[in-house]
Formats: sequence, C-alpha cells, structure tokens
Amino acid sequence: MVGLRGIVSTLWPRAGNRSDIALLIKRGGRISRLPVQPCWRAAYSSDATSARQGVATSPKEVEINGKKYATDPWFNVSSTVLSLTSRKLHLQKDHPVAITRKIIESVFPPPTYKYYNEFDPVVSTYENFDSLCFPPDHPGRARSDTYYINKDTLLRTHTSAHEAELFRAGASGGYLISADVYRRDEVDRSHYPVFHQMEGARVWDRNKVPNGDLAAAIFQDLDRLPKHNMTVEDPNPPFHPDRNPLQVEHHTPEEAAAVAAHLKRSLELMVNEIFSRAKAAAAFATAANNGTSPVEPTEPLRVRWVEAYFPFTSPSWELEVFYQGDWLEVLGCGVSKQELHIIAGVPSQIGWAFGIGLERIAMLLFQIPDIRLFWSRDERFLSQFRGVEDNLARMRPFVPFSKHPACYKDVSFWLKGTSAAGGGGSGKGAVDWHGNDLMEVVRDAAGDCVEDVRLVDEFVHPKTGRRSMCYRINYRSLERTLTNAETNEMHDRVVRGLVERLGVEIR
Ligand code: PHE
Repeated sequence: MVGLRGIVSTLWPRAGNRSDIALLIKRGGRISRLPVQPCWRAAYSSDATSARQGVATSPKEVEINGKKYATDPWFNVSSTVLSLTSRKLHLQKDHPVAITRKIIESVFPPPTYKYYNEFDPVVSTYENFDSLCFPPDHPGRARSDTYYINKDTLLRTHTSAHEAELFRAGASGGYLISADVYRRDEVDRSHYPVFHQMEGARVWDRNKVPNGDLAAAIFQDLDRLPKHNMTVEDPNPPFHPDRNPLQVEHHTPEEAAAVAAHLKRSLELMVNEIFSRAKAAAAFATAANNGTSPVEPTEPLRVRWVEAYFPFTSPSWELEVFYQGDWLEVLGCGVSKQELHIIAGVPSQIGWAFGIGLERIAMLLFQIPDIRLFWSRDERFLSQFRGVEDNLARMRPFVPFSKHPACYKDVSFWLKGTSAAGGGGSGKGAVDWHGNDLMEVVRDAAGDCVEDVRLVDEFVHPKTGRRSMCYRINYRSLERTLTNAETNEMHDRVVRGLVERLGVEIR
C-alpha cells in the first residue's frame, strides 16, 4: 500500500548473493525475537527486558527512554520491541545505518538544512496520522499494523510524524530527520518491526522571496544545485488533474512545477551519491579479489519517477533506481499539502518533503543479505564497518560469515470458532484474524532465530465453515547452527503462544 506502508519499509532482499539482495528489496515483511533466547538475539540482548516465553504481558505502564506511559486496552507492544527503542542504530558510530545517514546528510548540507536525529519514538496519534491528513479510516491506523501504547499514543510508524512540529518552528530552509520507526509486519529477511527512516524537507516563504516571485526564487535555487549524469526517466507531467493533482487552491502551476523540479533534482543527487558509492565499494571489492586495481563503472545510473499517493503531499512521486537488472523503489516524496503549513501557522510557506528507509539503502550499499544483521552486536558484523563513517572511501561490501543450516517447521491450526474468520461468526467481514498477530507471537517466542514465516496452506471446512491455516516457520540463526533440541523448544513456544494469545486450536 502506498502512503504509509509503502516505500520505506517494503523493499528488501532475499538471500546472500548480490542479485538476491536486489530481489529481497522488492518484497515486504518484518521480525522480532525473544530476548532470553540462547540464540542470535541473546548475543546482543543485554538491554532487552525479559519477556514471558511467547506470552503477551500487558503492563499498566511502560517506560521508554526514561519516560513512563500509561497503557490501556490498545496496548500491543511486545517487550522485545520495547527493548529496541533504546538502540538508535542511526546514531551508533560506524553502524551501516549511521553511515547511510551520513551519506545522505552530505547531500543536504547546512546551513540550509538542519539535522534532527534525536526525536523520541513515542508520538501521539495526532502527530503520526491526523496532522498529516490521514483519514480516520486509513488502514495504517489499525492495531494490526501499528504499535500502540494507548489509544492516543504510539510508536511512530514514520518520520513524517515530526513534519508538522518542524513546520510550526517556521524557519525557512530545510531539515533532515533520522529516526527509528516501528511497524507490525511479516517476518522475512527484509522486514523487521523496527527500522530507520530519514525524512527531508525544503521550504520557501513567499513573503521572503524577491518581489514575492516564489517560482523564480525556487528556480534560482535549483540552478545552484550541482548537476549529475544519471539517466532520468520522467514520462509524466509535473501534475495531473486526476492522477497526481496540483493543489489548485494554493499553488500556481509555475510554483508547483518549480517545487517539483527542485525536489526531483535534490533527490536525484542523493540517489546518485548513494549508488555511486555502492558501485565504487563493489568495484574495490572485485578488484581486491582479482588482484587488479578498481575500475569505476562507466555505465550511467538509470532512475525513474513514478506517480504516487501520500495523504500529506500532492503531487507525489516515488523514485525508482535500476539496480542489478530490476527497478527498485527507494523513496517517497511530494509537494507538501498546504494544510500542513496552514495548521502549523506558516501559511506563506511552500515546500517539498521526502522519506526514505535507511536499512533498505544500507542493504544495497553494503550488500547486507538479512535485515536481522543490523541488530547484531557480533564483532564479525560490526568490525567490517569500522572507520568508514569518518572516511567513506573505505566503504566495502559486507562479507557474510558462513551460512548456517535452516530448519523449517509447520504449524497448522483452526482459527477461533467464534469469529467469522474462524467460520463461526455471522456478519460478512467480521474477520478478526490478522497474520501480523501471528508474526508477533513468533518474534516473541523465537526472536532473531527465525528467518521467515510463510502461509503455506489455508482452507475452509466445507461442513463446519471453520478456517484452517498452515504456516511454515523457517528457523535459522545468523551466527551459529541451531540444535534440534533448541529449535523444537522454540517451536513449542511458538505453538503455545498461538494458543494462549490468539486462541487458535492446533490441528
Ligand atoms: N512517510 C512516508 C512513508 O513512510 C514517506 C514520505 C515522506 C512520503 C515524506 C512523502 C513525503 O511511506
């Protein structure tokens, strides 16, 4: 779904080699783990609070980064996810997420752009959704998709949650935010319940430009930006009345076209920087393997603009990059809805905004095959990036440590009989089953020892109308070979969690 679940989370690689990484980046999903597991997660879980094995706990209040929050029946954050709120990988020196942030920051320099990297992950539903014009029934608000502390408070699902407050601060110019964001999702090698995003915006004030001529001022700023030699496909007009409308009541066509042009060049420069660095790092590694000197790739990078939809921008786009034979979606952006500036008390401002997922980019930059690796405290992972943040020329692709065997186990069950999903309910659409709830149980019970979870079979009993599902859980540690006994133990915990938390009946 474009808008909230889009872009910044859904694009990840599938396995260890390069083309696999591009492929993974095209998929969707996410993970978690049991902190007390004697597993991958245990190697770096010193800050994890202990979860009762596979069973949800509903504390009266929770503490996040030193602040206490009262919970209510909306609370749905597992202790494993809570334990990650203090990690802030984007600020951890030489972490690939932090290196990626630095590369992006280098394209948006001060004093025009100010950096905000310390915003707290706990925000209000107003900040995360309402302030950005998300309709009340937007699916992104569902408890199956979003981690709520209580009805009015949640773990931000995107960095756009801070747009309104920065617009309210009113300074013209621009900003970059980097932060951890949280989404309930599937379990696979490209999705994790916590990941990092970067948000950027640039605004101009019509009262502060010469002769009030906004478009001219913006085009002048565009002229000052560097050029690049990427091949850019941009087949659509800057706006389209049905597909990608101009905000007619607020912007002239010239103003919107100027903002769009500045936005597009700025983001093309960013993507050019990222992918040039990825290519250079890969060329170094290949040369080192062959004992030759690195050759910079000559073929120019290809990118394309695709029309998109976000509740808080119009017109909107996604930028895709042609990488290893496929088009990869790398970011979402658009001309900010004027309502945001008006509500923020700065109606004379106009501008653009974008959002980008850092893990996705870091996976491409460093050829990191599994998103779980970012949370590793294993020296075999971390040592590979030492010294890179201060000297980006030292960037090299990640060299995976040996791949450990996988062991999959299936779990089949009947859904709770009382719901329509379980076959026992009446009204159409009264389905109360959501796959993300199962994913969460798996994360809590087996942590980072699960590589992915897939629905392999589903049917409705012709007589009883009950619905049966079969999921395949693929157990594989990134750091060592799991014993049969511990895999069985984890699987038992998953099964128990499904029964106790989701009320399913094991078949
Ligand atoms: N917040 C959007 C997302 O997470 C991305 C975005 C940011 C789109 C800013 C437009 C402008 O998908």
